[in-house]
Amino acid sequence: MNDMSIVERKLTQDEIKISARGVQVYYGDKHAIKDVNVDILDKTVTAFIGPSGCGKSTFLRCINRMNDTIDAARVDGKILLDGEDIYDKRVDPVQLRAKVGMVFQKPNPFPKSIYDNVAYGPRIHGLARTRGELDEIVEKSLRGAALWNEVKDRLQEAGTGLSGGQQQRLCIARAVATQPEVLLMDEPCSALDPIATSQVEELIDQLRQDFSVVIVTHSMQQAARVSQKTAFFHLGNLVEYGATDDIFTRPQDPRTESYISGRIG
Ligand SMILES: Nc1ncnc2c1ncn2[C@@H]1O[C@H](COP(=O)(O)OP(=O)(O)O)[C@@H](O)[C@H]1O
Ligand SMILES: [Mg+2]
Repeated sequence: MNDMSIVERKLTQDEIKISARGVQVYYGDKHAIKDVNVDILDKTVTAFIGPSGCGKSTFLRCINRMNDTIDAARVDGKILLDGEDIYDKRVDPVQLRAKVGMVFQKPNPFPKSIYDNVAYGPRIHGLARTRGELDEIVEKSLRGAALWNEVKDRLQEAGTGLSGGQQQRLCIARAVATQPEVLLMDEPCSALDPIATSQVEELIDQLRQDFSVVIVTHSMQQAARVSQKTAFFHLGNLVEYGATDDIFTRPQDPRTESYISGRIG
């Protein structure tokens, strides 16, 4: 953690998008996240890595209160988004999740048309006044997800009829349609073939222009390719956080070293 306090001191408040302080998560008696403190930067891709079951998904879900939907889960501590506590009673989790979007492991388009998948969020959040405005948001989101050219002539066809890689890009378009500030991605490429994976990775790099992106990945190669910052989790602890290059070439903690050299995981 020494490493992190050095990083922290160099940061200005403007660059920090999300601050976690003393975050604990319990599932009943199980202590799944143990006192996590981290500052996640704006316009940056941050990778969460670590062995299966170490708490990556659990901690990711803290950032948009998805753990609220899991009965057994209890979250303690603070998560600030632009300095505001997202667990404050006045925060509406539905509004929060429009600002902090999420893409899951398995592409999960709604059983609706391609158009309606993307239009869904803007409709419920009242982001478009006219059909023309909605059309524009749909087009812009599909372009942003690098899917427009492949679907522009069949927007009324079912989203579930697309290939796996296209479905995942549709889910990314759906997430960006509500103009989020943060995009959380939980192993977004694990159900994709190598070509679709590299398309989504390229897209992640573009999304960084506009958002803070946090990606959980079990692939260290992927973390190295897409992220600027990496956080290594082990048994519910955030063991080490820093520049991706440093984590992979000069890890400070023996647990990180063991993981990246393939001795644990
Ligand atoms: N809904 C749940 N109920 C109970 N325990 C859970 C639940 N989700 C995860 N866990 C437990 O919490 C720990 C962390 O899980 P998870 O966040 O899914 O890890 P990762 O994403 O790193 O594989 C694991 O021990 C897992 O079994
Ligand atoms: Mg997981």
